[in-house]
Amino acid sequence: MRSKITVVGAGNVGATLAQRLAERDHADVVLVDIVEGMPQGKALDLLETGPICGYDSLVTGANGYDDTDGSQVAIITSGVPRKPGMSRDDLVMTNAKIVAGVAREVTSRSPGCVLIVVANPVDGMAQLSLAVSGFPRSRVIGMAGVLDTARFRTFIAQELGASVHDVQAYVLGGHGDTMVPLTRLSTVAGIPVSALIPPERLEAIVQRARDGGAEIVNLLKTGSAFYAPSAAVAQMVDAILFDTQQVLPCTVMLDGEYGIRGVFTGVPVRLGDGGMAGVVDITLTAEELAALHRSAESVRQVVEIMESRRAEIDPSLGSLSPGIAIG
Ligand code: NAI
Ligand code: 2OP
Repeated sequence: MRSKITVVGAGNVGATLAQRLAERDHADVVLVDIVEGMPQGKALDLLETGPICGYDSLVTGANGYDDTDGSQVAIITSGVPRKPGMSRDDLVMTNAKIVAGVAREVTSRSPGCVLIVVANPVDGMAQLSLAVSGFPRSRVIGMAGVLDTARFRTFIAQELGASVHDVQAYVLGGHGDTMVPLTRLSTVAGIPVSALIPPERLEAIVQRARDGGAEIVNLLKTGSAFYAPSAAVAQMVDAILFDTQQVLPCTVMLDGEYGIRGVFTGVPVRLGDGGMAGVVDITLTAEELAALHRSAESVRQVVEIMESRRAEIDPSLGSLSPGIAIG
């Protein structure tokens, strides 16, 4: 039987993701949005692409959740993107109200699904979705690290005229200014980048990766990146549906790993059919660990905003942050 994937939010990220998933031809896709006719129209357009691109994926659009029942994977892209000058954190309360409602609908219809959260600020929205769903932490995963790492890998490859295939790198931490690109462990064809790129250039590349989202927001003027974000989610979905156990940087609820407990933070995660199969423990230097902890602290602040305004988000919402400990 074909798998079923629900994508909530048929905007830039959601619709592009639906296209990427349909073209893989291994699952049917349900696209949900509140705008009347829009997910139905995009879904029909994608369905009619099948004969040309050679896929049989059934793509349907809806303004409700009836068709989403029994999805193996559900992705929450519904939420407003930032405008130039805004940080991802400026979106907290607007997107929290959207994400809480969507997470409740999706997880009650598909109680066995793996939930991938994309809406920003993603670490906080993933933490909120975990609380709403009552799922085990293995089945609520935020997408950011694959995207941030792809940006970092792109800029390293460009700097050296290398193929992106040869660039290995990891970006850990939250999806924001405090993200932690691990330059020490980044390599090009097995050679450490520190041996190939002078420190000041490497620092400029790190900063460009940190600002990667804002760079695109400033160019687009309305909306934010969606080609690379949708590709990043599709890569995570592949690992989950095909149980590949691939290690990808994802934001997950930590339970003591890296000295962090009770807050979502980006770390290397092994992905398989149940979602997170495990957190991969990389031995970090004291400086790297301190940077990761600072990043977790910034996610904690977002979680605390939502915690203090829980009733506004969803009157039945339980605590989002039982026992955060960092460091
Ligand atoms: P978009 O504005 O193009 O699409 C969002 C869609 O969500 C709209 O079609 C809207 O109608 C829909 N929506 C709003 N409320 C809804 C609800 N209650 N139920 C169902 N649908 C609803 O925005 P885009 O570019 O697709 O980005 C979506 C979110 O993803 C934003 O918050 C953005 O910041 C975030 N994002 C996160 C990334 C990450 O790395 N985690 C990367 C890219 C985007
Ligand atoms: C990005 O980094 C918008 O968070 C999104 O492009």
